[in-house]
Amino acid sequence: MEKRQQWGSKLGFLLAAVGSAVGLGNFWKFPYVMGQGGGALFLIIYLLCIILVGVPVLVAELMIGKRNQKNAVASLKSEFPERPFFIGGWLGFITAFLILSFYTVIAGWCMYYTIASLTGKLAFASQSQSVDHFLSFTTGNYLPLVFLILFIVLNVGVLLGGVKEGIEKAAKILMPILVAIVFLLIIRALTLGDGVKEGLAFMFKPDFSAITPNLVLTALGLAFFKLSLGMGTMITYGSYLKPESNVVKSSFQIAFFDTLIAVLAGLAIFPTVFAMGFDVSSGPSLAFITIPALLNQLPFGQVFGVLFFFALTVAALTSSISIYEVIIAFLSEEFKKSRKYVIIVSSVIITVLGILVSVSFTDVIPGVQYDLLDSLDLLTSVFFMPLGGLIIVLGAGWALKRSTFLDELGNNIFNKILYVFVVMAPFIISFIFVLGVVDFLSKY
Ligand code: TRP
Repeated sequence: MEKRQQWGSKLGFLLAAVGSAVGLGNFWKFPYVMGQGGGALFLIIYLLCIILVGVPVLVAELMIGKRNQKNAVASLKSEFPERPFFIGGWLGFITAFLILSFYTVIAGWCMYYTIASLTGKLAFASQSQSVDHFLSFTTGNYLPLVFLILFIVLNVGVLLGGVKEGIEKAAKILMPILVAIVFLLIIRALTLGDGVKEGLAFMFKPDFSAITPNLVLTALGLAFFKLSLGMGTMITYGSYLKPESNVVKSSFQIAFFDTLIAVLAGLAIFPTVFAMGFDVSSGPSLAFITIPALLNQLPFGQVFGVLFFFALTVAALTSSISIYEVIIAFLSEEFKKSRKYVIIVSSVIITVLGILVSVSFTDVIPGVQYDLLDSLDLLTSVFFMPLGGLIIVLGAGWALKRSTFLDELGNNIFNKILYVFVVMAPFIISFIFVLGVVDFLSKY
């Protein structure tokens, strides 16, 4: 058997893990969810979810991977030999396919939008033209599929290189580019004058009356999605760590940089949206309809359009490879096949799923036009991921002894407190989950 792979350096791992966390979630999902959730209040709830639940779960996942040096399912099996927590790994394996099936579609849109802004195709005179363009593109028969497949090919290219020469190298090149672009976008946004104040107030002045259980559930789901939790990604990435790595420190760094980039993405978007008098709560189309329409009214809008969508593509790539890796690690280790073989087989499946999602926007099948993307997104982020996370944390919080946790991470007051949160996490997740479901059902 091939020798198991490892990260080449601490920085390499950090960039790869931050690359996994920073994704479409930051640029596409976070701003619109925050826009619909009332801005600052949502941000506060989100931060609480990240610190109280997200970081403890992240520590638990990385630690389980690092201790066992195996794919997610096998790590959970060998960590808890007599208990069924590996089901969380199985669930993650399925979730990985479900997420990739829509994630790759949106990433394909980002690629198309990068090229379309480069070639001046996004020069809209009005918002309604932007809507028309988006609809005619996404319901088109072949263009979205071409970019979907291109994006999957990019993933395959990186993954074939392996953990160190593929994933880590890609992160080392792409993450600095991403950060540089985000800063350019913010400078643009904050020098607009008019709407800047409103945009900042929207982001940082909370309206506490708007709180609902569902908002909390959404924030928790987003926190899981953002930190790549609940589906074995971080167990898998943790499994390539050397024994001496400090997973507590890494977890805080990952959560910090991810949240920072989400807030910075908000800073790049909201002031501009307000300045140009657009609607902040426009939903998933914020990135693809509002942003292109608004960039057209700015000096150098085209340049910023290219940068914005290129940043999205880059962010999506470093994330999707981390979801892919869950599948690759599991299949190659369990079935003793080469990486190359399982990469090709799983890519065929992902391509088929992606095509299904993409085609669901069109009327290729007469009479059936159904937003599969939205359903899959909802299903995975409020159901599969918290459930997978719950099972994993039940293992980490209950089956894993306090002494093991402290032996592994260091016996100090900080880790003792952290352990309390790991133990509490299943309660918090279940509680919010039940509240959210009740709130959801009471609307019908
Ligand atoms: N965190 C990524 C984002 O914000 C998405 C992602 C990558 C992910 N790996 C994951 C989500 C694993 C859930 C599980 O876009």
